[in-house]
Amino acid sequence: MAGATGNLGKHLFQELKQQGYYVKVLARSKERAAALSPAPDEILIADASDQGSLKGVCADVDVVISAIGKSLSLKNKCTATFREIDFLANLNLLGEAEKSAVSQFIYISAFSASQYPHLAYFKAHADFSEALKQSPISKIILEPTALFAGFREQVELASRGLIGYVGGPDRRVNPVYEGEVAKAAVAAIGLPSQVIPIGGKRVYTRSRLIRLYCKTAGYKGLVPTIPSFLIKAAMPLLKLVQRNLYDKLSFYLALTKEDFLAPPLGVLTLEEYFELEPQQV
Ligand SMILES: NC(=O)c1ccc[n+]([C@@H]2O[C@H](COP(=O)([O-])OP(=O)(O)OC[C@H]3O[C@@H](n4cnc5c(N)ncnc54)[C@H](OP(=O)(O)O)[C@@H]3O)[C@@H](O)[C@H]2O)c1
Repeated sequence: MAGATGNLGKHLFQELKQQGYYVKVLARSKERAAALSPAPDEILIADASDQGSLKGVCADVDVVISAIGKSLSLKNKCTATFREIDFLANLNLLGEAEKSAVSQFIYISAFSASQYPHLAYFKAHADFSEALKQSPISKIILEPTALFAGFREQVELASRGLIGYVGGPDRRVNPVYEGEVAKAAVAAIGLPSQVIPIGGKRVYTRSRLIRLYCKTAGYKGLVPTIPSFLIKAAMPLLKLVQRNLYDKLSFYLALTKEDFLAPPLGVLTLEEYFELEPQQV
């Protein structure tokens, strides 16, 4: 299990342990891996971006599950690019899995990644998914829409009044709880190769999401509309000076322009996740 110290990875790891699997955890940080609960059966310390450090990590492994990815959080200051982590680090791990004749590789991609080759986040996921499809190893590619935990950052911004309408208020998404993605991933162990797009049961418009952030944060102030001409003017400059931030914001902007609706396999709603009464939003 690679990426077990991450948001989704923690759920994947716990689900694997609950289902009784023997789990070797591959992590960059000994402290973060040792903090996992229950304790991993084995911990391997390696940076998947460094091919040399991965040598032999898949020996005696039946199934590799990777939730390795560059964080989408605006607070995360990691300087590596989406390509370096989501594509190359996973490719290094796949190379090791092939050498050790691993029987299945389960990868967490992103919903509709192949449709946005101009966006670094989606392109890195789509390119790795393509490389995995070409591999002789049996594979499962999970494609979640937005994960619930990512919305905590929006709530935190709303609590400071840092919230505004951007793009189309009617654009829709059906986010999914990471615990449910983890269950689907672990249930796919041993299944034939397939791609599993996965969303939650409730569909949210952008404006409903904004109301939900404000309710959860207890923010009652004004929510301005940010003019699209301002964003259009600022993005090219940002691309030149802060490429990583540009790539993340481009992803968030795409969410305000398109619908992201995946098959509703999850049942938990954001209201339940944030413990709101449904009529509050
Ligand atoms: N968040 C969403 O809404 C969403 C939606 C769809 C798909 N996804 C995808 O799902 C995956 C997991 O997302 P997440 O939200 O759980 O991300 P996350 O919390 O940022 O976790 C990423 C994990 O990858 C590990 N990692 C990063 N670079 C690594 C490297 N070079 N070597 C080894 N481990 C490395 C991190 O380890 P450290 O603890 O050492 O940093 C962490 O365990 C990502 O690929 C993401 O793009 C996310």
